[in-house]
Amino acid sequence: MTGSIAEEKINAIRNVADIIDIVSETVLLKKAGANHIGLCPFHSEKTPSFTVRHDKQIFHCFGCGIGGDVFSFLMKNEGISFPEAARKLARRYGIEIPDRSFSPEQDRLIREREELLAVNQIAMEYYHGILLEQTAGKKALAYLTGRGISTETIQKFRLGYAPAGWDQLVKFLGGKRLSLKSAENAGLITAKQNGYYDRFRSRIMFPIMNISNQVIAFGGRVMDDALPKYLNSPETPIFHKSRTLYGLHLAKKKCRESDSIFIVEGYMDFLALFQGGIENAAATLGTAMTSEHIRSLKGFASKAILVYDSDQAGLKAAQRSIAVMNKDLKESRILVLPAGYDPDSYIKEFGPREFQRHAEKALGVFEFLVESAVKKHGLSIEGKLRVIAELETYLVSVKDSLDLALYSKELAERIQVDQQTVLDAMRRRLQSKEGPRPAAIQAADSRMPEGALRQAVPRNRMERRIIAKMIQFPEKTIPLIESENVLNYFEDQILKSIGTGIMTCNGSGARKTAQLLGETANPEQRRLITSLAMGEEPFHAEGWCRLIRQFIESHKKHLGKALSKKIKEAEAAHDQEGLIRLLTEKQRQISEKQLKPKDASGGKRL
Ligand code: GTP
Ligand code: MN
Repeated sequence: MTGSIAEEKINAIRNVADIIDIVSETVLLKKAGANHIGLCPFHSEKTPSFTVRHDKQIFHCFGCGIGGDVFSFLMKNEGISFPEAARKLARRYGIEIPDRSFSPEQDRLIREREELLAVNQIAMEYYHGILLEQTAGKKALAYLTGRGISTETIQKFRLGYAPAGWDQLVKFLGGKRLSLKSAENAGLITAKQNGYYDRFRSRIMFPIMNISNQVIAFGGRVMDDALPKYLNSPETPIFHKSRTLYGLHLAKKKCRESDSIFIVEGYMDFLALFQGGIENAAATLGTAMTSEHIRSLKGFASKAILVYDSDQAGLKAAQRSIAVMNKDLKESRILVLPAGYDPDSYIKEFGPREFQRHAEKALGVFEFLVESAVKKHGLSIEGKLRVIAELETYLVSVKDSLDLALYSKELAERIQVDQQTVLDAMRRRLQSKEGPRPAAIQAADSRMPEGALRQAVPRNRMERRIIAKMIQFPEKTIPLIESENVLNYFEDQILKSIGTGIMTCNGSGARKTAQLLGETANPEQRRLITSLAMGEEPFHAEGWCRLIRQFIESHKKHLGKALSKKIKEAEAAHDQEGLIRLLTEKQRQISEKQLKPKDASGGKRL
């Protein structure tokens, strides 16, 4: 994740940068004990839960769970990449990063991107100037005004007009002695046998920006019934339609404050919302919502409301997104507008307040699917079976076992059947289809004694405590972890890999956490690390040994129980061969227990 900057430069920056300095530039921090606290810049709050530790050079928000080191703070806060954050810090702390740290290929790619951005920028200003200042743009301006778009909105979003004719932009760029090749690469002009032609002609231009306010593409709308209604820039190295959300560059502030975002389908819909004061919004670009879109919301909003103008469109989106949504979003809802309205016309007729009020009734994605199925099949016995069958199709793609347990519970309650019935139905379906059942169903099943949903017991509680201690006191804890092979007993793979990271990462003392963060790319993992690092309790060697002993014992007990269960099953199934294997295993476990405990490091006994 260091891009092209040498590792020792990154370490040098990490050693001199002061997170309190950097955070203080945007957050008002107050000292409180070992911490500095302030209002979280990443979500909206009234009492400060954003905490910065000077000694460990990390931050963590107890409100929204976000956390990281000085690099990730800059990346999130300014929407920039890791290398950009590193360069920024390097400049500030006087560390020189030579440009030749780029390989020639990287150099070429960077230059190519810069050229594309530059020519797009010039084109944007050209189109914008025509719309606002030239006779050629009069009709377009009247069209936008007629649709309720204010001059202020036109300026904010740099809307423009691509004039009629075949080579207006070509001539303009040529007159400025600009490279037509890069305009071609950007998809602004196309080469034909006898020269270049403009791609966009007689169209209202919507510049599409990335999160750092750079123009990466355009959408162009005709003003009559000509087709296509919208024309977009082609995919280029700087523009990927399925990742981009129109308007997010200006919406991100309100998204952060409200932790939520409305996602609409059209440019005009977005502008209507934004202009109506609903600034936490963005629009897809004529494609379905993808997991990449959702990922791009990270750090801006964890709740999304997808807005559709028909039941059918909403249903399709819900079906497609159920598997991807819950992974990266805390909450996702589907808002369907009354028949015949899109967000633009709805707001025009009823106003933004009414839109917000209507939005409060939006159903969660799963709830929406359930209600649609109930509407379709009814709640007779036959109907319920059909509802379950329909929902199974979506549920089998849900990977997370807790989500699955919650969904099946929600479905069971809504249609008044036993939850086990829902899970059984799913299992039958899967077995008949593709053999062994996915781990998620198994796990959801085991969370449910006698058909009731048990609270998800955090089996990994001890594992968390162990990792927390390892993060806070690496030097004191690693010896025992190593000598007893403790990580081998871990069930939670994420915690386990953090543990492994602590054992292998080089940093020492207080900066070890920051070093560990530097080596961890996964954002979930980073959050977990900072939250576990914030603990304040002192270290007690005795308590530490006790914790490890309890952990290992509970793990063995758990293994024993699982084994006993398997033995019973083998007996019931008259599986002689399996039984012998299992009994041998049991014997081995018992004799292991009777062995003397190993000598732990430092002469302490477990
Ligand atoms: P108005 O008709 O001006 O209100 O725009 P709209 O945004 O409401 O258009 P519509 O609901 O028809 O389409 C929604 C979105 O789909 C648009 O904003 C475009 O991103 C995309 N889209 C619509 N028509 C076309 C098309 O012909 N070609 C392409 N590439 N995209 C389109
Ligand atoms: Mn519309």
